[in-house]
Amino acid sequence: MSLRLAERSRWVAPSATMAMAAEAARLKATGVEVFDFSLGEPDFPTPEHICQAAERAIRDGKTHYTPAAGIPELRAAVARHYATSVGLPVEPQHVIVSNGAKHSIHNALMALCGPGDEVIIPSPYWVSYAELVRLTGAEPVILETTEEESFILSPERFLAAVTPRTKLLMINSPSNPTGVVYPRSALEALADAVLKTEVGVISDEIYEELLYGDAEAHCFAGLRPGLADRTITISGVSKTYAMTGWRIGWAVAPPAVSKFMGALQSQETSNPCSISQWAALEAITGPKDAIRGMLAEFSKRRDYVIERIKGLKDVSCIPPQGAFYAFMNVERHFGRTLGGEPITDSTSFCQAALRSVNVAMVMGSAFGAEGFARVSFATSMETLERGFDALGRFVEGG
Ligand SMILES: Cc1ncc(COP(=O)(O)O)c(C=O)c1O
Repeated sequence: MSLRLAERSRWVAPSATMAMAAEAARLKATGVEVFDFSLGEPDFPTPEHICQAAERAIRDGKTHYTPAAGIPELRAAVARHYATSVGLPVEPQHVIVSNGAKHSIHNALMALCGPGDEVIIPSPYWVSYAELVRLTGAEPVILETTEEESFILSPERFLAAVTPRTKLLMINSPSNPTGVVYPRSALEALADAVLKTEVGVISDEIYEELLYGDAEAHCFAGLRPGLADRTITISGVSKTYAMTGWRIGWAVAPPAVSKFMGALQSQETSNPCSISQWAALEAITGPKDAIRGMLAEFSKRRDYVIERIKGLKDVSCIPPQGAFYAFMNVERHFGRTLGGEPITDSTSFCQAALRSVNVAMVMGSAFGAEGFARVSFATSMETLERGFDALGRFVEGG
């Protein structure tokens, strides 16, 4: 007898970014030097004082179940962050600490969506959004945004896509994969459009602190009165504090939603790792020197990557203002032969680059944007230098 998988097993595909990273890792394991531009996590170690807080938690016996929605100290610290840095009054009981931002997004979708519902997702979008929506039985409605409009969803496009079935809009600024940060005016215009409808919002602000130049991130829920009642704000410590492996994220949600998300978590995972929660508390409340150092390094790399992309034949890119990705337009290479392989789309472009010059990138199609390749600069300057040399040879047809 073979077990029959549930219907939902056909709704979800594995993460394409992880698949690319796995392929790069497989090549590395065979002894090949890979210039890995596929990474979605800071390459820095977690700052020492955060690690020490985790050690203290272990020694102090903070190694048991915690409340499902997180330790009160961490929920209060997250609430304070929104009150002081963002100007949004948040009650600690409306903060649900989870096993990473991805988990929070999943639970928020589980709280709000089901079969028959539609969720609007502007593309390019982070790979997991559409899959997580499908997992609830709801339907992702992808609204394409273009490079010409700086990958920003206009209120008109949003309003035109709303139907009686539309439950949510998902937004992500600063964005993975484009690095675009919505200007305040664009977010406010979208907020006003949302307020004309019955649609709720999941605002994924996980890259809120990773900003370059004069870019400013804005918490969507705080932009207009009434928005907090229909917005679930997602963030966490993974990216800002180089803590991807610790698995701590959170959602700030209206009372009924946060209550359900806490209950859901109590049934599915009990609580996020107790030790990681104490470490996350130290991350949020402790000194910020290490974070400033990482940001300065990211900023240097970002400037370097922008310059190198300018030097690549027939490749262009909107300079990223946040996160640690550059989203390169590689469409002009389609129809050519590069690295001895025919290039027909973003997948063949990335595969040929990996096979011929050992540069790992993620194809735009994984983000719902054919014609692009995502480069992560969460890697050393030396890897960037040598990887871009190799990429230069690749796009020249060498
Ligand atoms: C836009 C976005 N949201 C959420 C996440 C997931 O964060 P976490 O590792 O905290 O689950 C990522 C990670 O790549 C991301 O890029």
